[in-house]
Order: sequence, then structure tokens, then C-alpha cells
Amino acid sequence: MIKVLGSAFLLSTNNTSYAMRVLPTGQLEHLYYGQRIEADKEEDLLVLSEKHAFPLGNQIAYDEESSYSLENMRLEYSGYGKGDFREPLVELVFPDHTFTTDFLFDYATYNKEKKPLHTLPSSHGECDHLYIRLKERNHDVDLILDYYIYEEDVITRTTKIINHMKEDLIVERAMSLCLDFEDDQFEFITFNGGWADEMHKHIHNLSSAKIVNASCMGTSSSRAQNFVMLSRFAKEDEGEVYGFNLIYSGNHKEVVEVSSTHKTRIVTGINNEQFSYCLKSEEVFEAPEAIMGYSYAGFNGLSNIFHRFVNEHIIKKEWAYKERPILINSWEAMYFNVNEKRILSLAKEASEMGIELFVLDDGWFKGRADDTRGLGDWEVDRKKLPKGLDHLSRKIHKMGMKFGIWVEPEMTNENSDYYREHPDWVIKIDGQMQSLGRHQYVIDLSNDEVVDDMISRMTALFSSCQIDYVKWDMNRVMSDVFSTCRKGEVFHRYICGLYRMMDTLTLRFPHILFEGCASGGNRFDLGILCYFPQIWASDNTDSWCRFDIQNSYSYGYPQSTFTNHVSGVPNHQTLRVTPLALRFHVAAFGLLGYEVNLLDLSKKEKEDIKQQIIIYKKQRALFQFGNMYRIDMGWMAVDEKRSHAVGMLFKPINELSKKTVVFKCKGLDPLKRYHFYNQKMTFDIKEMGSLINTASPIHIKQGSLSHRVISKFVHLQGEEENYYASGSLLMNAGVFLKQGFSATGFNEDVRFDPDFFSRLYFIEESAL
Ligand code: GLA
Repeated sequence: MIKVLGSAFLLSTNNTSYAMRVLPTGQLEHLYYGQRIEADKEEDLLVLSEKHAFPLGNQIAYDEESSYSLENMRLEYSGYGKGDFREPLVELVFPDHTFTTDFLFDYATYNKEKKPLHTLPSSHGECDHLYIRLKERNHDVDLILDYYIYEEDVITRTTKIINHMKEDLIVERAMSLCLDFEDDQFEFITFNGGWADEMHKHIHNLSSAKIVNASCMGTSSSRAQNFVMLSRFAKEDEGEVYGFNLIYSGNHKEVVEVSSTHKTRIVTGINNEQFSYCLKSEEVFEAPEAIMGYSYAGFNGLSNIFHRFVNEHIIKKEWAYKERPILINSWEAMYFNVNEKRILSLAKEASEMGIELFVLDDGWFKGRADDTRGLGDWEVDRKKLPKGLDHLSRKIHKMGMKFGIWVEPEMTNENSDYYREHPDWVIKIDGQMQSLGRHQYVIDLSNDEVVDDMISRMTALFSSCQIDYVKWDMNRVMSDVFSTCRKGEVFHRYICGLYRMMDTLTLRFPHILFEGCASGGNRFDLGILCYFPQIWASDNTDSWCRFDIQNSYSYGYPQSTFTNHVSGVPNHQTLRVTPLALRFHVAAFGLLGYEVNLLDLSKKEKEDIKQQIIIYKKQRALFQFGNMYRIDMGWMAVDEKRSHAVGMLFKPINELSKKTVVFKCKGLDPLKRYHFYNQKMTFDIKEMGSLINTASPIHIKQGSLSHRVISKFVHLQGEEENYYASGSLLMNAGVFLKQGFSATGFNEDVRFDPDFFSRLYFIEESAL
């Protein structure tokens, strides 16, 4: 809802409000963002404006009549040169070489239209739209601020710069969002990491210095995730949290700065380092759309808001809430060593287990014996697959499975026909030693001809046989950056080229389920999610690490956007051995896949996987789209009606002193009654080691043949939990679970919980 009250604007969602007004001097003063407020008159909102009678000490007075110093105001945007020394929203260099900007209010209007951007992806769906035009006082340049107000407690912003001058305008910075708070009582939360080590949550205390979260590697990157939060020292379920994200897949920057008067500013947008854009006469520069959300119900409250927003307003309509298949991926099962026989045996085993999609990962195309060659030549390798992809796809479909392939359309190896034909189509500096990543070059998507050509190649490939799924990988970041376009434009033009390619191909092949990937989560962002509904979250499939990685993604992204695979042990990234049950329980919260040579598994493991698949299929809607909550050492997913839920408990270490475990539910209806029960499990008796002798009439040597034989026939029965209670009890008090294992007295009423213990609990509305 938008209210225009004199010179003030009040934007409200169901539970939040955002207010601003035009200052007598023409700038836009930010008045408020937080819990919903009501106001019907301009005077009401003026209560929220800064009251200044004079600028402090050596602050710059904006003009001689007013008492404003821009440095000490909360502003909706800021430039450089008129006394505000904080991080600006825009920086421009005019043809007269001046670089002071002074944008003043000119015009505002509002409607119910969600306008798409022309060069970048953006959110979609029903919302209110406030359009504000500002004009630069001394040059014919417009700054357009668009605000989109989504009922579900999200407000988005875009910034546009329009050059009405005859000469070129140099845009040195065009950020998307600038938000000022009156105080500095916040923690700034960022998610940083690296390859196979994504999404470490970092809590930064604000101080007078700037805190910068940024990427300059050409991708949004695993080093610094676009999603950040400002929290007023909130907890999971209480306290005020502001969340910010950016619909952009390239270099980005989020800066939090505390001013000399202890005001906090956050600025988000394209990283202005290595950025400088030449805007010709009458051209428009569009900055990416920025997302803001606010909750007073803690981090889970904010996550719920962002989850809903991403599912409803970012993911393409045809894929939002569409259940995704359980897949088997060939990568960790066979790496580059793929051939028809091996693929079909794995596919057969997978289909017998109930798996629904076979994904042929890297290694299937011409000359791809290892990662030094082949990228760019998107034709099947006839030595490995003599009868071609079409034949393979038919065979797999005959088994009742869908068929998908891996591609890396943005890359080429020097050892490829593509590179030999088009050595000038890659990002590099001719005549200099090039630093490569994974032996490959990034192709130059800032060049339209290269984009058009790759669209044709991918179109030919995707139409060559029945392909239901595509994993779109991007395995290196940028170095030696140089192109035919201006230096400061390469990174941004690359991303625009990428988006054009993704847009064209997803529209051309709407039935294909596309999955993004960039060495795992090196480009996990809303830009990718506007085209591809899901992303491979990390190359790290170790369930212990993965728990943290997925847990962190869940702060800003719904679990339907991240794919997780159950892989083999010892884990290929960490050599850690974790139970199959934990690997499944972690992978199940999101989009489930398997990435292991199923043929090599034991009979018991195969049986367990079949059971996992049955459970997942039964609860798929919950696992993929349920409202997800982080609970103490675990997760819960609850359906919209709050009548079904699934919970997961994970304890990495068996601690004898912490044996009273209470499972506290979240998200249920306090007034409803529920049946709470667990996934009944059996365990391999070998896991008890020599303790078997406390029950066996004859001595069994650990690891001996007799030990192994007994384990085939005798299984440990896991504990059973079975209760009926109200939602209020389950949430406020919780279920006191059975006693955990501790040396003595093991029986079926004891929870078998060695290290890496995990369990699933089901909670269903009940009349009992
Ligand atoms: C990247 C991906 C992996 C796999 C390999 C194939 O590392 O993240 O999942 O597809 O490429 O080369």
C-alpha cells in the first residue's frame, strides 16, 4: 500500500512500513523502516523527520538558508560533493569534468505495475509501485528511484540513471539501495567462504569503520554472498532483523558504515571497483534490483519472509512450487570415465531404487578425457557414447527415468576446436602470460556475437534429444580481464550477456529443469534464480559440513532452491565417514539427489536408500516447499495449513552429559493437536563393536567372520517415539525424547546415538 501525504510517502506491507519525504531543499529524507505504522496526515510522518537547527561544527551546510548538513541526515540516496561523506549511491563524472552531484526531487507517481528491467532480471508479481524522478541541479541527468511494495513484507528498489545530455556521461558508481538508520545498534551479518566451504556466517559488530562485503571475481561468489542482514542483536525467533539481497550474479558490494554522528548506512549494489560505464546520450543505466525485508520475529521470521518472496516473486511461475525429481548424478560415481555401459548400469540400479532422473555430468562430450580439454565442443564423444546422446536418452527414458546433462557454456579449454576456431572470443590479454583457472578460459559474453553463437550451440544440443534437465556449470572466476568494450564495463556487460543467454534458452526450452552451478555455490544468487529454479549449493557433500552450509543458505533462500546429494564414504572432499542416515537427513531438506556408485553399495545400504526414497517421495512437498525453521540442532518444515510437519535432529558428537534431549517444534498451530512420532530405524550390530559380547552367549571377535555373519541377520532396533500433544505443548515445552546411549542398559527404549547421530520426526494433525 502506498500513501502520499503531502511531501511524504508511506509504503506499507502487511507487517512493515517504510517512510520518506521530500526535504524543503529537494533531497529525499528517509524517515522510517520497521514494524508497520499508521499515519493519515503529513504532520504525523513529520514526527519522524530529523530536527536540526544548525550544522554541527565543521559539517558542510547544504545551503545558507537551510539548517541541513547532508552528512547528518538519513537519506534515500546520496551522491558525492555536497557534504555527505558516507558511501554514496551514485558517482558520476560529467562532460565538464566535474563530479559533484546534486539530485533534487522532480516528480513522483504510483501504480500497481511491476516493471521489468530491460538488461537485468527482476522480481515479478502483484505489488504497488512508487516511481520517483530526481533531476541533477546542474546537468541534464535524471536519477529514477523505483520502489516495489510486496504485501508479504518485502520492498524492492531499483536505481536508474538517464543521460539527457548530448555528451557522454561516465557512471563511476550506480548502487541499488541506500538505507540510513538513526543509530548504530546493530550487528552486520555476512556469509563468506570459498570453494566447497561456502556460507560461513559472520557476525560483525559495528564500529566507526566501514565493513565491506564484496566480490570482484566476476561472479557473485562463494567468498561473499549477496544476502546480508542487519540485526538489532536478534535471536532465531525474536528481535528485529533487516535482510538485504541483490538480483545480480556479478561483482557486488554491501557496505555498512557508521557515521560521525553514529548513524548507520547500508549501501548495496554493483561493486564500483573495476566499474566505470560510459552512458551515451539518451541511454539508461539500470542498476540491479535490491531486496529489503524486515521482521521483528528474529532470523526465522526474516527467513520465512524471504523464502516466500523467492518462491513467489523470483522463481519463474512455471517452476515455483513444482515438485522436483530425485536424481542420480554420475560425477562422484565415475568422474570423466563415462561410457554407455557404465551409465546404463548405474541408471538401471537407480531406477530400481525409485530414482527419477539420471544426470550425466561432465565427461560426455568430444575429447573430454580430463579437465584440460574439450570445453566448448558441445558434441557427444563418439568413443565413449558411439550411439550418441539420443540413443542414451531413449534408453534411460525406457527405464522410466528422465534424462539430464551437464554443460559449461561459459567456458572453453585451449585444447578444443572452439578455441582453435575462435581464440579471440575469450577473456584474455593478448601477448601476456595468462593465469587460468581449472585449465580453462572464460568466453567473452560481453561480446554479443559470442553470446549469439553460444545460444545457437546450446539450442542445437538441447534439441538433439529428449533432455529434461540441464546442469549449467561455471567453474572458474575471472583473471586477465580484457575485452573489446571499455575496461570498466566488461564485468557488467558479461553478466548482461549471460542473462540474455539464460533468458533466451529458458524461454526456448521451458520444459527443461535448469540447475545452476559454479564449482558449487560460487554463483548462488537471485539473478541465477530468476532463470534457474535451483542451484547446486556446494561441491562439499560431507553431511557434517553440509549441515552448516545449508543451514546458512536457509537464512535467505528457501530450501527448494538448493540441491543436495547423498554421496559415498569416505567423503570425496573431506575423507570423513558419516552414516548414510545423516547423509540422507541433511540432503532431504531441499532437493534430493544421489551422487555415488550405487552398484558398489552393500545390500543393506541399497535397502536403506530405497526406504529413504519412499520417505522422501511421501513427504516431498514438505521437504521441498514446507515453511522451514531452524531449531536447536536441526530443522523443521511445516506445511501451509500447519497440519503436517517433518523435523530433523542432528548431534555431531555424543556427549554423555547432554543426554536429556528435548525436541522443541516450531511453526505449528498452538491450538491444534498433533501426533508426534519418529522414523523407526534399524542399525548394524557391528556399530556396537565388542559390546556385542554383553548379549552373546559365545565370544565374538570384533570384525571376525562370525561378527559379520551375525550382523547380516541380527539388527539393532532403534527407539520408538510416539506421542499425542497440543501444538502449544510441542512448541513451548517440547518433547522429551528417549534416553540416549551411554555405556549401560541399552535396549529398544534407548536412543542409539553415536557421533553423527540424526533422526527424522513426523508431526501430523490428529483428532486424538
Ligand atoms: C564442478 C561441479 C561439480 C561437477 C564438476 C564437473 O566442480 O561443481 O558438481 O559437475 O564441475 O567437472
